[in-house]
Amino acid sequence: MKKFIVLILFGLPILSCNSVKKEEVKKANEELVMYQFSEMALLMEEMYKTNEVLKNKIINNEDVGEFSDKFLNIHSAILTDPKDRNDSFEIFSKAFIENQQAIFSASQNEVKDQFNIMVNTCVACHKTTCLGPIPRIEKLLIK
Ligand code: HEC
Repeated sequence: MKKFIVLILFGLPILSCNSVKKEEVKKANEELVMYQFSEMALLMEEMYKTNEVLKNKIINNEDVGEFSDKFLNIHSAILTDPKDRNDSFEIFSKAFIENQQAIFSASQNEVKDQFNIMVNTCVACHKTTCLGPIPRIEKLLIK
């Protein structure tokens, strides 16, 4: 039993950082009542969706709108593993916010490159903390 609990504890951050399918997470949720999405994981999912919409706007030459302040929560949202918020995390999150903001001030012919720079900042941080979602994040890149 003790071994099992240890396994769960160490398994959690890995689970949240793997490319686990939603259904599997849901199933895991039902089985282990302990598992919950962290505030940061939820924010990341929201950032993903918002940038998917933004990508389509850029591809279709539509107005990109404005930077969303909710992204700033990256500086405070609670992580599954609070130790992940180290110096390197802070540097990457600042760079990410700057690159995300720059999309909204980029000119029409720079906006696609600026969007891809932002996506690469997501990937860069993920290479240091959370490898699982990288293939999914790379799908955001505009070819
Ligand atoms: C500063 C580092 C950093 C940046 C920048 C970053 N991430 Fe993350 N991301 C993380 C960490 C750490 C986690 C794990 C969060 C947790 O489990 O609490 C994560 C988790 C995720 C997840 C998985 C959430 C889940 O379902 O468990 C996705 C998807 C994701 N990020 C997408 C993105 C996207 C898209 C971007 C850019 C728009 C981005 N991330 C930018 C560090 C970062």
